[in-house]
Amino acid sequence: RRPPSRKGSMADVPKDLVAEIHKLETLFTVSPEKLKQITEHFVAELAKGLSVEGGSIPMNPTWVMSYPDGYETGTYLALDMGGTNLRVCEITLTDEKSEFDIIQSKYRMPDELKSATSEELWDYIADCLYQFIETHHGDCSNIPELPLGFTFSYPATQNYIDEGILQRWTKGFDIDGVEGENIVPMFEEALARRGVPIKLAALINDTTGTLIASAYTDPDMKMGCIFGTGCNAAYMENCGSIPKIAHLNLPPDLPMAINCEWGAFDNEHKVLPRTAYDVTIDRDSPRPGQQAFEKMIAGLYLGEIFRLVMLDLHDNKEIHIFEGQDVSTLRKAYSLDASFLSFIEEDPFENLQETHDLFSRKLNLTCTRPELELIRRLAELIGTRAARLSACGVAAICKKKGYETCHAGADGSVFNKYPNFKERGAQALREILDWPEKKNRRAEDPVEVLPAEDGSGVGAALIAALTLKRIKEGNL
Ligand code: GLC
Repeated sequence: RRPPSRKGSMADVPKDLVAEIHKLETLFTVSPEKLKQITEHFVAELAKGLSVEGGSIPMNPTWVMSYPDGYETGTYLALDMGGTNLRVCEITLTDEKSEFDIIQSKYRMPDELKSATSEELWDYIADCLYQFIETHHGDCSNIPELPLGFTFSYPATQNYIDEGILQRWTKGFDIDGVEGENIVPMFEEALARRGVPIKLAALINDTTGTLIASAYTDPDMKMGCIFGTGCNAAYMENCGSIPKIAHLNLPPDLPMAINCEWGAFDNEHKVLPRTAYDVTIDRDSPRPGQQAFEKMIAGLYLGEIFRLVMLDLHDNKEIHIFEGQDVSTLRKAYSLDASFLSFIEEDPFENLQETHDLFSRKLNLTCTRPELELIRRLAELIGTRAARLSACGVAAICKKKGYETCHAGADGSVFNKYPNFKERGAQALREILDWPEKKNRRAEDPVEVLPAEDGSGVGAALIAALTLKRIKEGNL
């Protein structure tokens, strides 16, 4: 007997369910024309963000003004405050070109910390650093100050590399008294309170770290992207193309890494194909009206989009999935994360047994085979939409800079772990940038998004090294 083909088994799905799947397909599919339209608007918005008037994408100058040459040396600490974990690393850049040693510890960021007080946040971070130094160097009171690259992955205005005025919290953080403030003194005060012997050398974004760490080992890398809890990118601009810093009279061809903060793309809702579910996510988030692009792509939101669709199909649609069952667990906001969708997409379609068991284990729901097929298709649609939209940002930077070929370094849980994210993104790039069909399947695409080096660790250390070198040489 031949194994049941995908098409064959769909025939067994009741008609009204098939109709509902088709509606979802229409809702979540982004056509090549739409991708192109989004990309065009994106290019214009990148430029607007660099202008004096500004736009919705912040386009933050980062004071990272060169690529590493591979000969950076020294030992640095790196602190990575992403959105889910806190990581502390000690990185030694060795005499060997582009080689480094790293030791690291991960600390969970308790969910409550996202809405704690500012002092609680900084004290928690200082405590993790203290623990790290004590474990690896012994008594904190007895050692010379170590230089630190702090990866603070939120939008921040920087007049200097060791300053960061938080523009707004993203990724579900909601801590009072930090927005509009320079976070560096708050951080340093907490270090002093705890007696942690650290000197902040540079405050960086994870995307900038990714850009620099990737270029360290691959000079074709022209941007650093994060597709994780949040979604964002950085690239190298020329100071002459950044009108909003023209008053500083920097040499026009001097490079300056720009942290785009492209999660804010289309906050004014002009082009993105938002669904009613996206509108709900935004409305119920701590910062409505912000991060429109990010809320359709980033790992923090993918499971939530999925959950909202499921609930809608149960509550409001004719088909009433999970009919007669208690869906109270499914009603809990943010109870499903992106790994839930990854899991469904990885399950062999023939049985969808794992998906069946997952629903029963996590949500106390028993799914019929047709429901399982709908669930699988929905996960694919949400994951595919995210990957395809993300390609618009990559394509827009290429177009803005006139890069016909380049590599983009990418990191983050969605990029690294979500099934098919890379391939779906690559396919969308082909559609947007109109490359001819590949004859040889193994031939490279002109623009490729590749796994990056560890930006928030090695990247932060490299930027700390580059900054200290620049200070030593008396440049800026
Ligand atoms: C959010 C943050 C941004 C970060 C991204 C990925 O978009 O605002 O700074 O780079 O998440 O972590």
